[in-house]
Parts: sequence; C-alpha cells; structure tokens
Amino acid sequence: MSAPGSLADTHTVRSPGHVEYGTGAVAALESFATDHAADTALLVTDDHLSSSGVIDAPRARLEAAGLDVAVYDGVVPEPKLSMVESAAARIRDAGDVLVVGVGGGSSMDTAKLAATAATADESPRELLGRDNVSGRSVPLALVPTTAGTGSEVTDVGVFADDRDGGAKKVAFSPHLFADLAAVDPDLTKTMPPSVAAATGLDALTHAVESYVSLDRTPYTDTLARRAVELVAENLRPAVAQGEHNDAARARMSLAATLAGQAFINSGLGAVHALTYPLGMECDLGHGLANGVLLPHVMAYNVPAEIERFAGVASLLGAERRPGESTRAFASRSVDAVFDLLSDVDVPTSIAAYGEFDRATFERFADIAFEHSAHNIAANPRRMDRGDVVSVFESAAAGR
Ligand SMILES: [Fe+2]
Repeated sequence: MSAPGSLADTHTVRSPGHVEYGTGAVAALESFATDHAADTALLVTDDHLSSSGVIDAPRARLEAAGLDVAVYDGVVPEPKLSMVESAAARIRDAGDVLVVGVGGGSSMDTAKLAATAATADESPRELLGRDNVSGRSVPLALVPTTAGTGSEVTDVGVFADDRDGGAKKVAFSPHLFADLAAVDPDLTKTMPPSVAAATGLDALTHAVESYVSLDRTPYTDTLARRAVELVAENLRPAVAQGEHNDAARARMSLAATLAGQAFINSGLGAVHALTYPLGMECDLGHGLANGVLLPHVMAYNVPAEIERFAGVASLLGAERRPGESTRAFASRSVDAVFDLLSDVDVPTSIAAYGEFDRATFERFADIAFEHSAHNIAANPRRMDRGDVVSVFESAAAGR
C-alpha cells in the first residue's frame, strides 16, 4: 500500500443512485414517485418542519404524481431507536409506500433505517453495525433542509439507543443509500442562524477530517478540498444573511453534499470520535460539538500532516507570509477555524457547556474508544487514551 491519497492504488467510490442538486431540485420527487409503484408517500420529518410549511414543496411534488401523502413527524434531534421503530411501523401499515426523509441528519437517518427495517420486518436494532442489512425494497428519497450532515448522500446512520442509556449506535450498509438525494437550497431558507452555523461546521469537519484521513483517496481529496473552500467563503454570509443570500446558502448546500460524498469514501477522524461523549453527556448537538472540538483536534493533528494542514490554511483563506515556515503556516489553519467559530457565534471552548474535570475526560476517552474506534483509527496522528484526555483539556482551556 502506498502513502494515503496515492494515485498508485485503486479506490472504490460509493455513492447514492441519483443526486439532484440545485434550486428547484425538489421537483425530482415527482419523477421519483411516478417511477415507483406506490400509492402513498410517507414523509419522515420533525414537527417543526411539518408545522412551519417547509415540507409543503416536497408534499406538492408527491401529490402532483398522484400519491397520497402521509406524515410521520415524530423525529427529534439525535434520533432514538424507539422512534425509528415507530416510523418503521407506519411504513409497514401503509402498504405500497415510498419514504421521503425531509429535514436535517436526524430525519434523514431515521428515514433510512426505518425504510430498511420495514423491508426486513426486523427491529432496527438488528440492523446496527456494519453490513447487517440484507436489502431494502421500500423506495427511499432524502431531502435535506440544512446544509451540513451530508446524510442525503451517505450510507450511514447514527442513533441513540434508548434501551442502553442513550448510547450512540451506528448502522453502515450500502442499502442505506437513498435512491434519490434531492438537494434543493431553497429548503434551507428558514434555517435559524444557530442551526446554519452548527450544521455548516459539521460539513467543515467532514471535509477537514476527510482531507487528512489515513484512508483518503485522490477522489475524496478533490471533494474535500472544494468543500473546505466553499465553507470558508460562504458559511459567514449564510449564517448572517440566511434567506437574503441565496448564493451563499446554495454553496453551503453544495459544500455539505460534497463533504458527505468525501467522508463516506475516506472515513472521518478524532473529532467525530470525541463528539460522541461530549454530545451524549452535555446534550450538545452533533454539529455544534464538532465545531467546538475541530480546532483543538486539528492542533493535535498538525505535526502529523504539516503539508496537508498548510493546504487547509490556504483553503480557509489564509495567505502565507514571506519567510513563514510550512509548519507555522499549517498552524494557521487552526487559527482560521477559531476565527470562523467566533464569526458565527460558536464558542471556542467546551467550558461553555459545562464544568469538566480530568476524571470526566477519562470517562469521555473510554466512551470515544468504545463507540468510535473506527474514527480514531482513521485519524492522521495516533491517539491513545491519554492523548484524548489532553485534547479535551485543551478544548476546555479554549483558544
Ligand atoms: Fe458529522
């Protein structure tokens, strides 16, 4: 095996069946509906999106194709497996049905696993882990209303197991890929600034972690580089101007989708591992937890990938000073992320979310290794339990 990212190796590229991107992309639901023999479409979403009218555009396209539209709007952030069971029961009861997940990562992940569990007539719990899904016959479309998780183009879902103290459980399977991912930036118009910031930082974390992952490839590099650049150029205006800046939101939607395509083919890294315990213990959303931890994990990783992090600094808009060493410039990638966090009103320290001591961080390290060893394995700098504790300590100290 050659160095990570080498063109000397062959690489597999995994992706969903059909991605429709751009303003008006939601219209693709109409042909998706007519192409599948179904009487009913079940929209899987949350109650805010169902009551605020965000689901009206997808609903109209499905009705235009002659389908009855039913809504399951019981999704809550960090989706629970019991909720996936409820959604799967609705799918089974609906007969000839297709499923459309509309929302952020929680709604899309719920739709994926529920459609799959309904096909197998199995509990979603049986499908957790890697490649424990035998197939999916229920057609599945995913429509993001945030710009961040990339769930619309991934074959993975993350769930809280409410029978196991809320522990995060992951399902990986090619059957979790959607038949259609309709990425329409018009649907991100009503995102509150705090959600735009948190989800955008999730996309940035996917892109940076993919770019330095030990399992990166030339293909994922190309996607990840562009995604970093798009977030650097567009997250601030997308958060500050929201519905008044269609171009910035559209580019954030593109960034999120590219970063999703990148990370499912390269793996992630330690940020996503350390996010697990922090999110679980502090009730902190996935994107926000990633954003706060990202610069601290980057600072730890810089010595392992100086050239790559110098590249990240450049993609984030930093300019190399005359005579500045590559090592010094690489560190400025960390400063650039701290600046971005401040500009979108996200804390640069986890101390904003609780009081922590060393014993807590040791417990966090155990959780990270227990639940997310695959992410730590892809991290460019090796990490043991003590290293994880040190990174949490630096995250508590802040910038
Ligand atoms: Fe993520």
